[in-house]
Amino acid sequence: MIKAFAQTCGLLLILTSANCQIPDAHVTCQFSRDCVLPCTFKPNGNVNVMWYRQDVLIFSQNQDGLQSNLTPQNQSPRMHVLQDQLARGSASLHLNMCDIKDRGRYRCLVNNTLSQQESFVIVKVEAAIKMVTLETGSNREVLCLCKDIYPAPRVQWSTVPIENSLMPSTQIFPNAQGLYSVQSKLRMSENILTYICTVNSMYGTQSWRSTLQQKELIGKVGRELSIPCIAPQNLQNFTLTWTFTRTNKSSNILSYDSRTRHTSNNWLGQAGLEQHRVLLGNGSLLLKHPETQENTGTYTCTFSGLQNRHVVQTQVHIRSKIEGTPSSGNQSGRSGQSTSKLWPIAVVVAVAMVATVAALLLYKKRKANQRRSNEIAMETTETKPMKTLQSAEELPVDNC
Ligand SMILES: *[C@@H]1O[C@H](CO)[C@@H](O)[C@H](O)[C@H]1NC(C)=O
Ligand SMILES: *[C@@H]1O[C@H](CO)[C@@H](O)[C@H](O)[C@H]1NC(C)=O
Ligand SMILES: *[C@@H]1O[C@H](CO)[C@@H](O)[C@H](O)[C@H]1NC(C)=O
Ligand SMILES: *[C@@H]1O[C@H](CO)[C@@H](O)[C@H](O)[C@H]1NC(C)=O
Ligand SMILES: *[C@@H]1O[C@H](CO)[C@@H](O)[C@H](O)[C@H]1NC(C)=O
Repeated sequence: MIKAFAQTCGLLLILTSANCQIPDAHVTCQFSRDCVLPCTFKPNGNVNVMWYRQDVLIFSQNQDGLQSNLTPQNQSPRMHVLQDQLARGSASLHLNMCDIKDRGRYRCLVNNTLSQQESFVIVKVEAAIKMVTLETGSNREVLCLCKDIYPAPRVQWSTVPIENSLMPSTQIFPNAQGLYSVQSKLRMSENILTYICTVNSMYGTQSWRSTLQQKELIGKVGRELSIPCIAPQNLQNFTLTWTFTRTNKSSNILSYDSRTRHTSNNWLGQAGLEQHRVLLGNGSLLLKHPETQENTGTYTCTFSGLQNRHVVQTQVHIRSKIEGTPSSGNQSGRSGQSTSKLWPIAVVVAVAMVATVAALLLYKKRKANQRRSNEIAMETTETKPMKTLQSAEELPVDNC
């Protein structure tokens, strides 16, 4: 396309000497890598190549490989044009070790006695995102971090469950080379289970996603425990690592590479993965015989793949025999178990005793009451009949 234009324009220039516009070429160079700025022309005898950046001559060379117009010290050793390509109509500029300062509008000018051909290249430089991490900071904050990026990327947060009023604070710092570091902070919240930080490159070439999940898990001494960790959907070519942290000290448990399917395990015999499950994205860690002291701490699972990082931090607490509650801890001590079994009996006995005593008291009270009422009744019957008798005895007398 460019070549066709160059040829047409070259032809036009020869015929009319008019200024001809070739559309600007756009090139995005990767920071610290090599880059090629295209320039094609219609081969036409001995040519002189000149490259300008923002109208300043930066490179010059003739067909014989001789430099003109520029003193050697002015010409960067990072730039060259392939001599053998000149005869074939290419004066593309090869740039080694691209730098932020290499950005700009370049002009390629190819001269010979008959004609002059020019074309432009717009050069962008990009330092790609290599990693985006999520960490928990002090003061209950989540930090989304990435560094050495150019131009400054865009950071977005989301959560599960969705929270609408997230208020992250993002800071961007340039380093001496002009590359940016980004630190974005978000306050942690009780109801949020998963934090997601997405970092998009300015030119839309990359979109990195980093997630952090926090969990808690209670295990029992000596009982095999599976600490769950599931890969993000469709994650391919990943590495999985498990680390253990207790009282500020971190150690690697194991790491797995999906491409080699190789696991290197520092906790052999103590912990492991299930090979057939890992391949399908289930990276759950199996603790074989957890111990109270040794295995209580934070287990961190990290799935790392292409532009994707997923971290699950699980706070594991291994309950000892004494700590176990009678209902859940089957392994809880005999004494605990016997007392726990005795308790209901004691309660039953106590209740029975109280009931008996109460019944006895009630019986006695009733009996007493009965006796008293009997006495009263007797009293009344003793007195009344006497009276009635008396009166009855008297009546006939009276009536007679
Ligand atoms: C390129 O050619 C033009 C005319 O052909 C001439 O005026 C100009 O000086 C040349 N430039 C260089 C740098 O040789
Ligand atoms: C994974 O790696 C293999 C070889 O290492 C490669 O052929 C494949 O394209 C990669 N897949 C993805 C999704 O990157
Ligand atoms: C862990 O580190 C923090 C600071 O990073 C310190 O304040 C704390 O005392 C340390 N704890 C232990 C148990 O070393
Ligand atoms: C993952 O594997 C563990 C065993 O290591 C199993 O208990 C768990 O159910 C699996 N989870 C899923 C979602 O398959
Ligand atoms: C509970 O403990 C008893 C022995 O004390 C044992 O026979 C039983 O299998 C245990 N149950 C479970 C679920 O571990």
